[in-house]
Amino acid sequence: MSRKKVTVVGGGFVGSTTAQRIVDMELADVVLTDILDGPPAGKALDMLESGPITRTDSRATAGSDIVVITAGFPRKPGMSRDDLLKANYDVVKAVVEQIVKHSPKCVIIVVTNPLDAMAQAAFKVSHFPKNRVLGMAGVLDSARMSSFVATECKVSVENVHSFVLGGHGDDMVPLPRYSTVAGIPLPDLLPKERIDAIVERTRKGGAEIVNLLKTGSAYYAPSAAAVEMVEAILKDKKKILPCAVYLDGEYGIKGLFVGVPVKLGASGAEEIIQIKLTAEESAALQKSAAAVRELVAVLGIY
Ligand SMILES: NC(=O)c1ccc[n+]([C@@H]2O[C@H](COP(=O)([O-])OP(=O)(O)OC[C@H]3O[C@@H](n4cnc5c(N)ncnc54)[C@H](O)[C@@H]3O)[C@@H](O)[C@H]2O)c1
Repeated sequence: MSRKKVTVVGGGFVGSTTAQRIVDMELADVVLTDILDGPPAGKALDMLESGPITRTDSRATAGSDIVVITAGFPRKPGMSRDDLLKANYDVVKAVVEQIVKHSPKCVIIVVTNPLDAMAQAAFKVSHFPKNRVLGMAGVLDSARMSSFVATECKVSVENVHSFVLGGHGDDMVPLPRYSTVAGIPLPDLLPKERIDAIVERTRKGGAEIVNLLKTGSAYYAPSAAAVEMVEAILKDKKKILPCAVYLDGEYGIKGLFVGVPVKLGASGAEEIIQIKLTAEESAALQKSAAAVRELVAVLGIY
């Protein structure tokens, strides 16, 4: 079997930790690209020199199985994800034009914010089929929720499974009913006010890290989340993960990237899993989708 190749575009915090994790897990050869000349090349060389297990011996970007886009600008304190919209659209557009040329058969995983709008941009610019363009957000948001639940319940994170739908913004939709500890739904375990606090902290999870870091935004958990998606695709795992995908009527949403449960396998997003929502949950999802729709309308890509 030929070795798999993953290109990570953007050698900043998220990109370099994503590359490092893929290398450490021996999932694929990794190519790290950036518009900056010095630091990203230094990081790539440093990774190469970090041992014979790094498997970063391929330098060309052509023919990658997966391309992870982390290129762009991160949020600064006080800046909303939406402020990044236009600047990062130009970056993603330029990057995707190169991807189409060099890796026309790849699956694209977008990480750049504002996530859902940037995934929609990658879809529109690439003209790839919808199964080959995904956005990473739900895995991260669910991981954040799980870590808060594990702390609150004083249990292993391995016992916790969390469910977050919607766009990657303040209107994301954590679903306590579908979130479990050892299979037990959260509402059977915790009082409403504790659940509400966890939901609120999950929604603001990105900003909490930004405020602590002072410069830049989260990258350890985001890179781990992106790599979970990479692994599911490279290993054709048929793993169900929350991802931003192009909805074509599912959940009553049409023509828009929004986070929903997706089965990931070799061809990317192989199936969108539809779960039953209450009227309240459904309204929250529609509100979150409306926030994404506003952004893509600004960019003229709805
Ligand atoms: N989806 C999520 O859940 C999530 C989580 C964390 C971060 N992010 C987003 O990921 C992006 C990267 O974050 P970061 O912390 O790594 O930022 P960073 O500033 O450390 O890295 C970004 C890198 O992109 C490079 N870049 C800019 N334009 C480029 C281009 N045209 N081609 C190639 N490279 C280019 C920059 O030189 C820089 O090295 C940001 O948009 C951030 O908001 C998303």
